Amino acid sequence: MCRAMHPLYTFFLFVLCSLHTLAGSAANDTLAAGQVLTADDKLVSSNGKFALGFFQPGNGISKSLSTPIPSHGWYLGVWFNKIPVFTTVWVANRERAVTASELNLTQLKISADGNLVIVNTGTGSVIWSTGVVNRTDTRTNTTSLVLSDSGNLVIQGPSNVSIWQSFDYPTDLVLPGGKVGWNKVTGLNRVGISRKSLIDPGFGSYRVEINGSSGVILMRRDPAKVYWSGVTSPTLIPELKSLLQMNPTTRGLIIPEYVDNDTEEYYMYTSSDDSASSFLSLDMSGQIKLNVWSKDTQSWQTIYAQPADNCTFATCGPFTLCSGNLNPFCDCMESFSVKSPVDWVVGDRTGGCSRNTPLDCTLSSNSTTSSSTDMFHPIAHVTLPYNPQTIQNIATQSKCAQACLSNCSCTAYNYENGICSVWNGDLFSTNLNDGIENHSESVLYLRLAAKDLQSLGKNKRKPPVPVATVVSITTSFVLLLVVLVMIWRNRFRWCGALLHGSESSGGIRAFGYTDLGHATKNFTQKLGEGGFGSVFKGMLNDSFPIAVKRLDGARQGEKQFRAEVSSVGIIQHINLVKLIGFCCEGDKRLLVYEYMLNGSLDAHLFDSNAAVLNWSSRYQIGLGVARGLSYLHDSCRECIIHCDIKPQNILLDASFAPKIADFGMAVFVGRDYSRVLTTFRGTAGYLAPEWISGVAITPKVDVYSFGMVLLEILSGRKNSHEVHTSGENHVVYFPVHAISKLHEGDLRSLVDPRLHDDFKLEEAERMCKVACWCIQENESDRPTMGVVVRVLEGLQELDMPPMPRLLAAMTKCFEVASK
Ligand SMILES: *[C@@H]1O[C@H](CO)[C@@H](O)[C@H](O)[C@H]1NC(C)=O
Ligand SMILES: *[C@@H]1O[C@H](CO)[C@@H](O)[C@H](O)[C@H]1NC(C)=O
Ligand SMILES: *[C@@H]1O[C@H](CO)[C@@H](O)[C@H](O)[C@H]1NC(C)=O
Ligand SMILES: *[C@@H]1O[C@H](CO)[C@@H](O)[C@H](O)[C@H]1NC(C)=O
Ligand SMILES: *[C@@H]1O[C@H](CO)[C@@H](O)[C@H](O)[C@H]1NC(C)=O
Ligand SMILES: *[C@@H]1O[C@H](CO)[C@@H](O)[C@H](O)[C@H]1NC(C)=O
Ligand SMILES: *[C@@H]1O[C@H](CO)[C@@H](O)[C@H](O)[C@H]1NC(C)=O
Ligand SMILES: *[C@@H]1O[C@H](CO)[C@@H](O)[C@H](O)[C@H]1NC(C)=O
Ligand SMILES: *[C@@H]1O[C@H](CO)[C@@H](O)[C@H](O)[C@H]1NC(C)=O
Ligand SMILES: *[C@@H]1O[C@H](CO)[C@@H](O)[C@H](O)[C@H]1NC(C)=O
Ligand SMILES: *[C@@H]1O[C@H](CO)[C@@H](O)[C@H](O)[C@H]1NC(C)=O
Repeated sequence: MCRAMHPLYTFFLFVLCSLHTLAGSAANDTLAAGQVLTADDKLVSSNGKFALGFFQPGNGISKSLSTPIPSHGWYLGVWFNKIPVFTTVWVANRERAVTASELNLTQLKISADGNLVIVNTGTGSVIWSTGVVNRTDTRTNTTSLVLSDSGNLVIQGPSNVSIWQSFDYPTDLVLPGGKVGWNKVTGLNRVGISRKSLIDPGFGSYRVEINGSSGVILMRRDPAKVYWSGVTSPTLIPELKSLLQMNPTTRGLIIPEYVDNDTEEYYMYTSSDDSASSFLSLDMSGQIKLNVWSKDTQSWQTIYAQPADNCTFATCGPFTLCSGNLNPFCDCMESFSVKSPVDWVVGDRTGGCSRNTPLDCTLSSNSTTSSSTDMFHPIAHVTLPYNPQTIQNIATQSKCAQACLSNCSCTAYNYENGICSVWNGDLFSTNLNDGIENHSESVLYLRLAAKDLQSLGKNKRKPPVPVATVVSITTSFVLLLVVLVMIWRNRFRWCGALLHGSESSGGIRAFGYTDLGHATKNFTQKLGEGGFGSVFKGMLNDSFPIAVKRLDGARQGEKQFRAEVSSVGIIQHINLVKLIGFCCEGDKRLLVYEYMLNGSLDAHLFDSNAAVLNWSSRYQIGLGVARGLSYLHDSCRECIIHCDIKPQNILLDASFAPKIADFGMAVFVGRDYSRVLTTFRGTAGYLAPEWISGVAITPKVDVYSFGMVLLEILSGRKNSHEVHTSGENHVVYFPVHAISKLHEGDLRSLVDPRLHDDFKLEEAERMCKVACWCIQENESDRPTMGVVVRVLEGLQELDMPPMPRLLAAMTKCFEVASK
């Protein structure tokens, strides 16, 4: 496959335009009624930071690209006047460019009706107008247009009263002081709409707005879908605050704000330093990005992006594969080509890719016998495209393929867990999981003309369609929701509800006690013992290894059983252990999980007989656990606090990928981000101080425990461990030691000596720093798991963590006690 996007694309992301050289007219920030601004003129804010004038996007690009870009028009806009990389912050005539031929006849002026207008003086036609001011209303007698120091373009009336301002009509970005949100009294809604391409500031595919009870949402049109919502990410402002606070370049510089009162609801940020330049934009790919100008590198630095993944919904257009790990991240599917290379090069990918050879669709619509010669090409490890249709009563994969072939509009199918899904028409948002995180094991079977597939086979010596079916036991989300609703409606008949709901399913299974007895050879191969019961190894159908947890103690067991089924049962993430089924017979409560070949993390870290875990495994384990927790806290329908993060509850699969297990203590917290009181405690050594003192807890208790675990991964020892020095035993409390060594810059002494210095210093420092932030006493000082993930991914920098006082005091106690 060839990556069709030009590599210069990213380089020119911000080099949008070449400036129209202006005649050296004296700078002025005001255009009075009766004056005109021509294409050669500009207004400059009194601080010199912003300019208003006519510009032509993309002149700089066309010269540098091999693909010629068609000529494009002129726009009136505001841009950063002092920054060498031309960056517009507002555009007036987004949808109607001024053509090159009418440019010298074009003027900006305040019209007789008080509106700001762009007119073609040759024809007298209005190219663009603010269209809101009504001259007959005396309060709106426009006197002047002023470009303010904040970059806000204001139409003023008598006594400098603001009649209209560009901050109320943002394009695709907001400056400090600009709002995204709505005024509940006037109904004015300030929304952002992404630009179409680097050369076209017109309306693109993505939109950000505040929409009623959904809060802030990011949505796409065509196909229309809300792909990100503040309601499902209530941590947005706290997370952003903690992130900005911890980043040395933004600390105190950028202050995010969210206001929701009787008059208005909006998001805004302010900047404490007027000489700094920054903006928040909704870019062409659908990500919100906070950019700060770096004087050192003379470029824009993105310090925050939401959603973090480049592959936002349908960002590459139809029939593409998106991979956030690749640059460029969009590519055509096999046997497809970029539909419009010119648009693609300038970032407009709405056309996506089109088929090289048309499908064989000669079938008449009333034909029942399929005779299409089309074939299927498998694409493995993908998240399945948007909007599948499920076909009922299909028992085999070949029947599913047949069902797809029999409909001309069917373009792909997937057969998984006995469910046949097909897609009609364009395929959107197919994401590859080719990075460290292999999220999805799904295979998409793409329908191609036989001719394309044959040439593919010749080139790649690949069999066209593999016969192997994908064996994977995935819990069925929808089914579980149904089950859960039934459970909550009918708590007293819990077992019955579970059993009834799952009889017909191919997802989570209800097992009979005797079946599990048989699978586990009568519970003989014990894998371990936990607080609530024992875990046994078993074999399903003599081929599929499972771990079976038998819960003891009637009441506690029941409670844990419910906690597990209702938490781990409804969630799916590569870093969370998968629940396969359960058994609920009489007083017997058993849970069936996928079997983890490498057992739990504690054995690998603390057992002196175990093989030493190498550095990259350790780092991936830390990152994986962080991702799992971040998912639990932020991405589920309800926030789930695990409450018992410790090495014993982190399982490792065959490739040492970590999976968080044991959800027996997990609690749900409402989406309002409130606290919960619990009647139990996690495990000593991993317990956040606020929990010990008995206050209601937040997800930050998991952050604390995670920090403790991360330090143990780093050192390969328990945090409180005995050491022998000159014949004396004393206890070292590692976290305190770690922070002081970190301050001294001595990281080598912290890393597990068994690694013999075979580790990446930069990663170790990152790991230690973030761990030390996680174990801060004050929970608001601890980062959210989302921030932790970003730091471990190397996308975010952290300051030196301070020494937590309580911990330091505790160390003194240890020292005294051991003397
Ligand atoms: C700026 O514009 C104002 C209002 O139109 C005018 O009075 C003033 O003379 C102009 N200043 C310069 C330096 O052009
Ligand atoms: C505008 O430009 C055209 C050519 O592009 C030229 O013929 C015409 O004289 C110009 N008009 C003015 C008023 O400058
Ligand atoms: C302007 O205001 C006058 C009086 O308030 C009203 O009659 C007229 O319809 C308004 N025109 C527009 C375009 O809103
Ligand atoms: C509007 O302002 C102009 C001068 O800027 C003045 O001549 C005119 O009388 C004003 N109109 C009203 C209705 O106040
Ligand atoms: C209007 O703004 C100008 C420039 O900022 C200022 O000089 C003038 O005093 C202001 N007038 C009133 C009435 O506030
Ligand atoms: C809210 O979003 C929905 C689509 O999700 C849209 O149909 C509706 O118009 C939006 N409401 C407002 C007030 O923007
Ligand atoms: C709502 O918040 C805005 C901005 O903080 C403030 O100006 C306004 O007075 C507030 N309104 C009410 C009713 O509290
Ligand atoms: C997202 O894409 C941009 C531009 O292609 C690239 O610079 C950046 O590294 C990508 N981000 C991630 C997380 O891959
Ligand atoms: C069904 O298809 C056949 C050809 O395959 C055609 O002759 C016939 O008219 C069609 N019938 C209807 C109702 O479309
Ligand atoms: C093919 O699929 C489309 C879209 O789901 C559906 O409207 C149409 O009825 C189907 N045609 C046949 C012959 O099943
Ligand atoms: C992810 O998938 C790729 C492609 O199948 C495979 O080569 C790689 O080993 C997998 N990585 C992990 C960590 O499972």
